[in-house]
Amino acid sequence: MSVFEGKAWISKQGLVDVSIEVENGYISSVKKTSLEPKKEKAQGLILPAALDMHVHFRDPGYPHKEDWKTGSESAACGGVTAVVDMPNTNPFTSDISSFKDKEQIAKSKSIVDFGIGINVEENLTEQDWFGTVPAAFWKLYPYGISSDDYFRLAKEVLDKTKKPMVVHCEHPDYMYNNPLEKLSDHTENRLVAEEKCLASMPSSEYLHVAHLSTANGLKNLPPLSSTEVCPHHLLLNLDNCSSLDCKVDPPLRNVSDNTSLYDAYRNGKIPILASDHAPHTIEEKKSDTPPSGMPGVETMVPLMLQEVVENRLDLGRLVNSMAEAPATRLGLNRGRIEVGQPADLMFVDLNNTVKIDIDNLHSRSNWSPFEDWNAVFPHKVFRRGELISENSEVVSNSGGINLFD
Ligand code: DOR
Ligand code: ZN
Repeated sequence: MSVFEGKAWISKQGLVDVSIEVENGYISSVKKTSLEPKKEKAQGLILPAALDMHVHFRDPGYPHKEDWKTGSESAACGGVTAVVDMPNTNPFTSDISSFKDKEQIAKSKSIVDFGIGINVEENLTEQDWFGTVPAAFWKLYPYGISSDDYFRLAKEVLDKTKKPMVVHCEHPDYMYNNPLEKLSDHTENRLVAEEKCLASMPSSEYLHVAHLSTANGLKNLPPLSSTEVCPHHLLLNLDNCSSLDCKVDPPLRNVSDNTSLYDAYRNGKIPILASDHAPHTIEEKKSDTPPSGMPGVETMVPLMLQEVVENRLDLGRLVNSMAEAPATRLGLNRGRIEVGQPADLMFVDLNNTVKIDIDNLHSRSNWSPFEDWNAVFPHKVFRRGELISENSEVVSNSGGINLFD
């Protein structure tokens, strides 16, 4: 048994001095204390670790960008103890064999727990494994597909599924590919793609809208759906991140979109924070045809903790959006410091703001749009009671499990 003592964020109560006992990786008791230092005494605060339901760990297929080892190490050092990986690997995760292959790779290399998303393709709902595969969710992309097929498949899956269907909602008819001279050309190419897509997306409690990026998209969210926002759509815009490196899908917009999204995130209309960690190498980003995407799993929590320090965000709202809300959305019982929950915890010291330094990050992409931004990194991170990172150093080499098995 291990014991953690300190000031912890307890759901519905706030910060409380507690002693947290952990047996076999799960919390067995949470008791108020008068803070007699005992075993693992936290410096700073004890918070639930994050579940990032949107990462691209590129494995199998693109090990020069990332793999389950480097991706999960990046997650761990950023306070993320569970991730859900997207299916656009090589091969795509789109059937039972590609699913099992990815699960095996993740089990052998990941130091954080995980889920796997399966790509929505023709006849998905007819597959004999559709009702049984231990996947986290279905993922629908708008690339290389007609709008008729895109919305037909969306409806078909939403009608039959018992798990969430995550959509990258940019309308295929409004995604233009005019050549890019500057970053704002990419934004122009996609100007109304999100709002048009959301306006046509069927309403369903199973629908989850990935990476919301516009004020107009927010207005068009289908009833009953849930949504997530990424730090880059809250904090970056065409003014403060204007180089082509910042090409991402959906694109960066203006400060007014940041503000609308942030207000909606703050008040819970956007319940979930996710990174859309999409690593590409610097060489790829500097090429004549830069791919879309930016790394983010290691900086997501530290940037948003800094937002708390600067009084732009409530600590409770951050904890809910990074831990409990994504877990609840995916049907997982985790994200709170409570008896029966996995002991996925991080220690953070809100007095310890540092500048983001690429040399201290773990993604193979080796760059960040947030270089030199202020941030608060967790100094210890525990996955099911086991220390997996300390002061941005990895101290584990395996152990991740499929949370949906
Ligand atoms: O910017 C993006 N990059 N958006 C996506 O939807 C895919 C992602 C990637 O896999 O690189
Ligand atoms: Zn993505």
